[in-house]
Amino acid sequence: MKRIAVLTAGGDAPGMNPAIRSVVRYGTNKGLEVMGVFRGWWGLINEELKLFNHRSVSGIINQGGTILKTMRCSEFYTDEGQDRAYNTIKKHNIDALVVIGGNGSFTAADLFCKKYKVPCVGIAASIDNDINGIDTTIGSDTAINTALGAIDNIRDTATSMERVFVVEVMGRESGFIALKVALACGCEDVIIPERKLDLERVCHSIVNGNLRGKVSWIIIVAEGAGHAPDIAKDITQMTTLETRAVVLGHIQRGGRPTAFSRILAVTLGQAAVDCLLSGTTNKVMGMSNGKIIEIDFQIAIQKKELDVDRMYNLVKILT
Ligand code: F6P
Repeated sequence: MKRIAVLTAGGDAPGMNPAIRSVVRYGTNKGLEVMGVFRGWWGLINEELKLFNHRSVSGIINQGGTILKTMRCSEFYTDEGQDRAYNTIKKHNIDALVVIGGNGSFTAADLFCKKYKVPCVGIAASIDNDINGIDTTIGSDTAINTALGAIDNIRDTATSMERVFVVEVMGRESGFIALKVALACGCEDVIIPERKLDLERVCHSIVNGNLRGKVSWIIIVAEGAGHAPDIAKDITQMTTLETRAVVLGHIQRGGRPTAFSRILAVTLGQAAVDCLLSGTTNKVMGMSNGKIIEIDFQIAIQKKELDVDRMYNLVKILT
């Protein structure tokens, strides 16, 4: 193996840059040439790539986002798009790919690498922590901390003005961010896609609390479980209490990666290069119980089961 290429795909996650840096610097240290592909799969299709060196990744370890850019690329799911991507790989003598991304990126990687027999490893990076078989993904710790900072601020105004706040966090299919944030911010309730929404029960508990003298509430909702402005409107109607909605949105995807996200990123970058050099392919690099592990793409893309009941019950007990 002489030359590898690295790309970031899907939604960006804070820590992708330290992961790129690690792949480039560790790879070159091992005698490999490392190419950076721009805008994920789109860059392979459209031949947007260049040879990186040590200095190409200077000054990025503390930056959110990805210097390689990223996008969701539907063209990659067509035969023509895949053929063009493969032509780029052949033309530039790329022996293997490192794909930094989440569930969707690994679904695409698995399909492509099997079809064209291109060795490929993944590095799990997604704020959603939706990769099965590993503890956590690059970026999810940062996103939780970013959301938490915002919710701590909201708590100040919620307490001062004695209001209900419904705060929407990211997670289209997963309540992971919502549950973790709920545990960390001490909210009154959390609404997630994994549990059926029972707004009457939520409102009942707000009204009961109010009768006992409680005057402010924070309700966290994962985007996949409902839209904060709609839920806030319903709560106002059902409780008569003044309710405000905040949608945190993409601020959760940006910002300086935390120490945890960075250390995970640089560790998995090294593991990805070592994995390819050992001749292993179609694996996602991740951590489980403090150890680096390799998970088959096929297993990594299965739905990740969360310990929803345990986390939800704890949120409610501690309210
Ligand atoms: O990257 C994951 C994620 O942030 C999800 O939590 C969210 O549902 C989705 O991406 C948003 O995607 P987009 O930025 O394409 O709107």
